[in-house]
Amino acid sequence: MAHRWKNTLTDRDVTPEAAFLNRRQIIGGLAGAGLLGGAASVGLMGSAAPVSAQENTMEPNSWEDITTYNNFYEFGTGKEDPARYAHEMTTSPWSVEIDGLVDRPGAYQIEDIMAKMIVEERLYRFRCVEAWSMVIPWNGFELKDLLELAGVQSGAKYVAFETLYRPEEMRGQRRATLPWPYVEGLRLDEAMHPLTIMATGIYGKDIPNQNGAPMRLVVPWKYGFKSIKSVVRITLTDTQPPTTWNTAIGREYGFYSNVNPNVDHPRWSQATERRVGGGLFAKRIPTLMFNGYEEEVASLYAGMDLTKFY
Ligand code: MTE
Repeated sequence: MAHRWKNTLTDRDVTPEAAFLNRRQIIGGLAGAGLLGGAASVGLMGSAAPVSAQENTMEPNSWEDITTYNNFYEFGTGKEDPARYAHEMTTSPWSVEIDGLVDRPGAYQIEDIMAKMIVEERLYRFRCVEAWSMVIPWNGFELKDLLELAGVQSGAKYVAFETLYRPEEMRGQRRATLPWPYVEGLRLDEAMHPLTIMATGIYGKDIPNQNGAPMRLVVPWKYGFKSIKSVVRITLTDTQPPTTWNTAIGREYGFYSNVNPNVDHPRWSQATERRVGGGLFAKRIPTLMFNGYEEEVASLYAGMDLTKFY
C-alpha cells in the first residue's frame, strides 16, 4: 500500500515503478507534453512539446536518482546527506499551520488535509539553480485547493512557507549553514496556478523524508530551491515575504527565481543543465525558458524585466 493518506484513490496512487514506466510508454505523447495526470491537467498542458524536447526529454529519473541525490541542508550540505540522515526526522503526527489573511486559520492535521485533496500524478521537470535537473513523477494536489480550504482573504497578495525547525532531529540545523527555519514565498497568483502542487508522493509511494516528507511544495517553472520541503506553516500576507536563499545571498538568488536560460547566475551559466543519471560523459542539455512551462506561466510575468526580477 503506497499512500498513508488516501482519499480518491485510483490505481495510479499505488502504481509500482515498473508499471508506471510501462504506462508512460503507452501514453508517451502525453508524457512528452509534460504531464501525466488527471484530465484537467492534460488539457492545461496543451499538445505541443517544447522545441528542444528531443534533447530536454521527459524521461523520468529512477527512484534511486530522485531519492539519493538531494538538497536538504537541514541534514547537511552534501548530496548524499539527506538520504543518510533524514530518517531521523519524525513526520507523524504532522500538522500545517495556515494563518495570516485567511478565513479559517488554524493547525490543519495532515490526515484531514489529505481526506479533502485530490491526489494526482504530475510528471514534471525539476531544475536546480546549480544547473542539474531531473524529471520526477510526483504525486500531489494543487496548492490552490489547500489555500481555498483555509479561505484566502481579498487582501492577500503573497504566500509564505516555512519548513520544520527541529535541530534535535535535523542535524544540519545545529549549524548556521543557513538561517533556520528555511522559508520561501510565492506571489498569490503563482501559488494559485494549477501547475503549483504540494507533493506527497513519488512513483506512487509516500514521499521519502529526504525529498521533503510528508508534504513539500513543487513549483516546476522555478529553480528547485523555491520548492520548500517538509512544510509546517503557510501564511497568507499582503507583503512579499523573506526567502532563505535571498536572505543568505540576495545578489545571487532573487525572490522570483524563474528558470531562465538567458539570465545567468553570477557565477555560472544557466543556458544548459546536466540531467542527473545521464552518466559521467552525458552531454549537457539546453535549459528551457520557464523550464518548459512558458506557455502556461509566461503571462504571470508580462511586462516584467526578468533580468531585474530574477
Ligand atoms: N527545502 C528545505 N527546507 N531545505 C533545503 O535545503 N533545498 C532546495 C529545495 N527545498 C531545500 C529545500 C533545493 S536547493 C533544491 S534543488 C530542492 O529542494 C531539491 O529537492 P530534491 O532533493 O527533492 O531534488
